[in-house]
Amino acid sequence: MLKLKHLSYHPPASDRAILKDLNLELPPQQLGLIIGASGSGKSTLLEILAGLASGTSGGVYWRDRMLDSELLQQLGGLVFQFPERHFCTNSILEELRLGHPELGAERVEQALTSVGLADQPLQVSPHALSGGQQRRLALAVQLIRQPHLLLLDEPTAGLDWSMRQQLVSLLAQLKQDWTLLVVTHDASDLLAIADKCWQIDRGVLTETRL
Ligand SMILES: Nc1ncnc2c1ncn2[C@@H]1O[C@H](COP(=O)(O)OP(=O)(O)O)[C@@H](O)[C@H]1O
Ligand SMILES: [Mg+2]
Repeated sequence: MLKLKHLSYHPPASDRAILKDLNLELPPQQLGLIIGASGSGKSTLLEILAGLASGTSGGVYWRDRMLDSELLQQLGGLVFQFPERHFCTNSILEELRLGHPELGAERVEQALTSVGLADQPLQVSPHALSGGQQRRLALAVQLIRQPHLLLLDEPTAGLDWSMRQQLVSLLAQLKQDWTLLVVTHDASDLLAIADKCWQIDRGVLTETRL
């Protein structure tokens, strides 16, 4: 179970708090969906959950243990918005093993299978894949580390209708094994697979009924 307790974030550079007293509970193997307009604090929240920034008060708990940034980095796998812009190698294999050269063929196979890319030759360049396949690869890059919590920033942004549907069914499938927290400004496709849902408005999080 992921819990946020009174999490706030007010960086010194900002004249106001970006996240204000956030409370949230997300049980394992569920998909939580946070919906909010641009600038409402969604990406900032994911950065904190991924251990890339630290809240200024309150905390993030996993199984009732408060986690610091280092533990959050181990727990979470963050897929950035437009993750394909961050590919930095020339093959699927290199991209998956980046930072983890010790990972064997079995883990590579497993990660690609779980996102439906098992048929792609490992030497293919990430840049040569279709838009939908690139999103799948970006997911596999996180899944290969076997994080407990998968964090997705605007996963359907920029995809056409059919690619969005494919991604939504993939996320529904991943939910069987992982806990997913998805943030988006456009919830239309994702509501169907959400177990819990919140609105975020200028840093204030409110749970909504599905
Ligand atoms: N380190 C920072 N210092 C000051 N302001 C920031 C910082 N990070 C984000 N912001 C501001 O916080 C707000 C929330 O940004 P963001 O989390 O990117 O929103 P969203 O992902 O919902 O579009 C924005 O107004 C942004 O300009
Ligand atoms: Mg954002």
